[in-house]
Amino acid sequence: MRLIRSIYLCCTIVISVEGWAPKLPEERELTTNLSNLSLRKVPTDLAPASTTVDLSYNLLSELQNSDFHSVSKLKILILCHNSLQQLDIKSFEFNKELRYLDVSHNRLNVVTWYPLASLKHVDLSFNRFDTMPISEETGHMSQLETLGLSGAKIQKSDFQKISHLHLNTVILGLRTLSHYEEGSLPILNTTKLHIVLPMNVNFWALLCDGLKTSKILEMTNIDGKSQFVSYETRHDLILENAKTSILLFNKVDLLWDDLLLVFQFVWHTSVEYFQIENVTFGGIVYLDHESFDYTSTVMRTVKLEHVHFRVFNIPQDRIYLLFTKMDIENLTISDAQMPHMLFPNSPTRFQYLNFANNILTDDLLKKPAQLPDLKTLILKGNKLETLSLASCFVSLTPVMHLDLSQNLLQHQNDDNCSWPDTLLTMDLSSNKLAGSVFRCLPRSIQTLDLNNNKIQTIPKEIIHLTSLRELNIALNFLTDLPECSHFRKLSVLNVEMNLILSPSLNFLQSCQEVRTLNVGKNPFQCTCDLRDFIQLGKHSEGMLLGWSDSYLCEYPLNLKGTQLKDVYLPELSCNTALLIATIVAIVLVLGMAVAFSCLCLDLPWYLRMLGQWIQIRLRVGEATQEQLRRNVQFHAFIAYSERDSLWVKSALIPSLEKEDGSVLICIYERNFDPGKSMTENIIDCIEKSYKSIFILSPDFVQSEWCHYEGIAHHDLFRDNSDHIIFILLEPVPFYCIPTRYQKLKDLMGRKALLEWPKSRHKCRLVLANLRAAIDVNLSDNRQACELQTFTGLNEQARGSASSLIRTDCL
Ligand SMILES: *[C@@H]1O[C@H](CO)[C@@H](O)[C@H](O)[C@H]1NC(C)=O
Ligand SMILES: *[C@@H]1O[C@H](CO)[C@@H](O)[C@H](O)[C@H]1NC(C)=O
Ligand SMILES: *[C@@H]1O[C@H](CO)[C@@H](O)[C@H](O)[C@H]1NC(C)=O
Ligand SMILES: *[C@@H]1O[C@H](CO)[C@@H](O)[C@H](O)[C@H]1NC(C)=O
Ligand SMILES: *[C@@H]1O[C@H](CO)[C@@H](O)[C@H](O)[C@H]1NC(C)=O
Ligand SMILES: *[C@@H]1O[C@H](CO)[C@@H](O)[C@H](O)[C@H]1NC(C)=O
Repeated sequence: MRLIRSIYLCCTIVISVEGWAPKLPEERELTTNLSNLSLRKVPTDLAPASTTVDLSYNLLSELQNSDFHSVSKLKILILCHNSLQQLDIKSFEFNKELRYLDVSHNRLNVVTWYPLASLKHVDLSFNRFDTMPISEETGHMSQLETLGLSGAKIQKSDFQKISHLHLNTVILGLRTLSHYEEGSLPILNTTKLHIVLPMNVNFWALLCDGLKTSKILEMTNIDGKSQFVSYETRHDLILENAKTSILLFNKVDLLWDDLLLVFQFVWHTSVEYFQIENVTFGGIVYLDHESFDYTSTVMRTVKLEHVHFRVFNIPQDRIYLLFTKMDIENLTISDAQMPHMLFPNSPTRFQYLNFANNILTDDLLKKPAQLPDLKTLILKGNKLETLSLASCFVSLTPVMHLDLSQNLLQHQNDDNCSWPDTLLTMDLSSNKLAGSVFRCLPRSIQTLDLNNNKIQTIPKEIIHLTSLRELNIALNFLTDLPECSHFRKLSVLNVEMNLILSPSLNFLQSCQEVRTLNVGKNPFQCTCDLRDFIQLGKHSEGMLLGWSDSYLCEYPLNLKGTQLKDVYLPELSCNTALLIATIVAIVLVLGMAVAFSCLCLDLPWYLRMLGQWIQIRLRVGEATQEQLRRNVQFHAFIAYSERDSLWVKSALIPSLEKEDGSVLICIYERNFDPGKSMTENIIDCIEKSYKSIFILSPDFVQSEWCHYEGIAHHDLFRDNSDHIIFILLEPVPFYCIPTRYQKLKDLMGRKALLEWPKSRHKCRLVLANLRAAIDVNLSDNRQACELQTFTGLNEQARGSASSLIRTDCL
């Protein structure tokens, strides 16, 4: 228990301190709330800095003198709903700032007063005092403003002790009252008197004395059964010296006839404002407006709220007329389950009529009432259905404010409306009105609330609402902002919670007077169309209400929930012309780049080379095995004409042969066997080489090819064979090839010729391709190679051949 309390205490202190943190230390308020903790004693560890201590709803039965000594800053002490039996106000003598002391709802029977200079509010109501707890000391507390009292007996002598105090409020919270000495209450000098009546008291006596006592009189718990039956009802009562102008009854349970008697009595007193809240009445109606004396009254306002009928066969009309025949300014009968209301045939003076939260139907509106002074009519929360009938009902009145909200109102286009030209504000919210309502509105209207209806569009042909300044169409089904051509003075527009995906800003052209605009909580579609609106929100400086928290994207789904201000919609993706221009520019630049590369850098040639290189690379893997089976010993055999031999030996071969000599090239001059015929040698060489490279030039075609045309039937010359590579060293026009070299023509026609380029960069690429083409691992055939080379050497080639053997075959 203690632990819980400590935690609780700690929490409340922390909360309070935080709440007041910005204040200066001496102004800091600290609440220690120990309410409803079943405490039997006042805790000794009260925070000394507390200014408010709440110990209500505990089990405290006595207070020690020292209980609150430590809490020297105490201003408010709440001890209500405990079991205290005695109270000594002297025990607060060290609480110099104590101004509010609530000890109501305890079991007090003795109070010892002490003139605490700060105390303004002392509540001792609902205790068990025998007589009023007032002593001579009380009379010395001239600063007292509110005094709550209770006691079984009320007598003049008690109140006389404080009759000189100018009190603000006196609360008489009575549990029982066994004796009331008439004339006691009027001794008090207080602005407001609140009597909570116990059962079985003389209501009339207290009412009469109450009315003589204070300007405001409130009476709670008026119970006809116990308070009226056993005491004689004084029909002929006339009250002199009444002071009360505001009379409030609360929690009333009376027979109808008794209620009417109360009305009749109060009618002739000083009361101007009579309010009855939470009233239940039943019984049989004997008395009605016909027996009511409406003459000589100062009554101006009657208000009945929360009315319950205990009996349902009450003749409603007689009851209605009792109220509507009252010639007063303000009448409220609300929350009373009233199905109908009748007005007398003669004009009445009502300025303010409020029949909110009943069950009134169109029947009320069918007979226009004569209300020549009406300014405000409130019919909200009923079951009215036809707007045009409502307009007829008020058509002959000078009504300015009309509240028809929370009904079932609709408007058909062919119904005629006739509103008075005095109407300034109209609340039509929470009805079933569609766009057609705009054809049934008063021209003079300044403030119009159409919130929560079924409006989809505002029709084009409507009455010009030249005075309209505030329009609320929140919670409808609008899909765009309205146009102001028919209400040009509009300055406040609320279209929250509609179906506006993308507000069009044409609005701002026709609605130039608009200063406040609320478009929040619409399902915004965050696409390019919204860009202007987002800009408006960012730069309109307070024009858009609720910016930016209530402006969230609904579509597209990936942006759902994003605040509009955070949505990024780049110019490029939104401006079609710009987009096209950009694409065209990019295409142009790319085209120019391609053209430039083709023309100046010969890009296609490079691409072709690259393509070949990739092809070769791919093919090498597949072909190698099969090729090797042919017992290949050289990487390549090169055939060339005498005239090109210088180039072949000085340029081509050095480029193909790697530095480590791992590439073996077979050429006529060094590898041919003099013992064999030219043709045999050639065949031998071709067969032992992985590839055969033919260096084509006009000279080669004229003088050398003759040796090869003959062996062109050889397997390796087949059309699809990759064995042969043609290098076109110089252009060989087709017509220069002798007709007998049919095979050469065929081969040249079918095979891709590797043209030898002029530029050095290109040469490197061609060579790389060539090297890739002849790149094959000959290690398995090395032995053979060695022998062959030894036997096949001729004299001139010996030197180079031996170097070949040295580097490669050892
Ligand atoms: C203390 O707490 C109770 C609820 O636990 C609350 O009703 C009461 O108003 C609080 N008292 C004060 C002084 O804040
Ligand atoms: C006191 O607390 C109990 C539960 O702890 C709750 O039911 C009761 O309503 C509280 N009373 C008041 C007056 O706050
Ligand atoms: C009651 O108090 C007011 C000031 O609050 C004073 O003007 C008035 O004279 C007093 N009435 C009586 C009867 O003492
Ligand atoms: C009316 O009074 C009853 C008790 O008489 C109470 O239970 C009820 O809550 C009160 N209603 C209103 C709205 O004050
Ligand atoms: C009638 O009611 C209106 C609106 O509530 C108010 O301004 C006016 O003062 C009231 N008149 C009287 C006599 O109470
Ligand atoms: C509305 O008024 C026109 C002429 O002013 C009339 O012809 C028409 O019948 C009226 N409509 C209704 C429903 O009264």
